[in-house]
Amino acid sequence: MATHPQSNPKRREFYERIAHHDLAPLWEVLGTLVPQSPATPGVPAWWRYRDVRSYLMESGELISAAEAERRVLILENPGMRGSSSITHSLYAGLQLILPGEIAPSHRHTQSALRFVVEGTGAYTAVDGERVTMQPGDFIITPSWTWHDHGNPGSEPVIWLDGLDIPMVAFFDSGFMERYPEATQAIARAEGDSQARYGANLLPLDYTPQSLATPLFCYPYARTREALEQLRRRGDCHPCHGLKLQYANPASGGYPMPTIGAFVQLLPQNFRGKACRSTDGTVYCVVEGRGRSRIDAQTFEWDANDVFVAPSWSKVAHEADTDAVLFSFSDRPAQKALGLWREQCPCAE
Ligand SMILES: [Fe+2]
Repeated sequence: MATHPQSNPKRREFYERIAHHDLAPLWEVLGTLVPQSPATPGVPAWWRYRDVRSYLMESGELISAAEAERRVLILENPGMRGSSSITHSLYAGLQLILPGEIAPSHRHTQSALRFVVEGTGAYTAVDGERVTMQPGDFIITPSWTWHDHGNPGSEPVIWLDGLDIPMVAFFDSGFMERYPEATQAIARAEGDSQARYGANLLPLDYTPQSLATPLFCYPYARTREALEQLRRRGDCHPCHGLKLQYANPASGGYPMPTIGAFVQLLPQNFRGKACRSTDGTVYCVVEGRGRSRIDAQTFEWDANDVFVAPSWSKVAHEADTDAVLFSFSDRPAQKALGLWREQCPCAE
């Protein structure tokens, strides 16, 4: 391994002179620019739901959803404070919408996912269609689709937001528009996209209009049943338990081009082996109790907790009860660029 070049007065004087011409010596930064393995500033981190929930409810008394546009507490990686990022490429937050509130309609080039954590009765509208949100539902608002949220129900509704904000900022490709009214016009009845795309069938003349799935809600009841069916077939991976990825039914690929999402059932007393991959991953506990070891840290999680495993950290899950973990990462983007790597003991 090459060592860092020695500093000496002659070299330092040279660096100062060339700095006036916007030049810098590569050999001083080469090791940082081209690390031997991923060197993310992100660290493993864990947010207990009961703590975040109480602050989120307090924020509900401070500001309305309409004034905030989105009333969200950002889950900011402690290794990257001030960046609004949970991993180097992803943003995550917990959003609260109180009964009677509306989060006004807008669209942006950032892609977003919602994973419903608590409460029923709220809806998300995406490009002219509403879907009622239930705990455990996975909902997407793809790049440049109009979206708004409302809660005509009687209880607070909270969900996890995941967006590719840092990735879009990196590419300097962010655009945003507000809809002229608070809520967008409804063009189709609720359930329309589920009927057209949600049953392993497609409209006869279907051609994809974008890189994102035309199905924008994946109800938890169906997801949970699929995991149970898998369990009955005994197909349990030593690292991941029973793990599935959410798919675009029209392509078989990921639901959105920048963010992949996954769900896994860890049977009671599951003791997973450690593995790692280059996609820093955000986990949300849907059900159950257990722990995850991420490099040197162990997080004893409970339902609705959120934790993050940075790129190339060793991750091992254990479950004391049957447990379900939802997760998301930038895996589709890394795979599209030929960068994604995994190190799994089962493959060695
Ligand atoms: Fe948005």
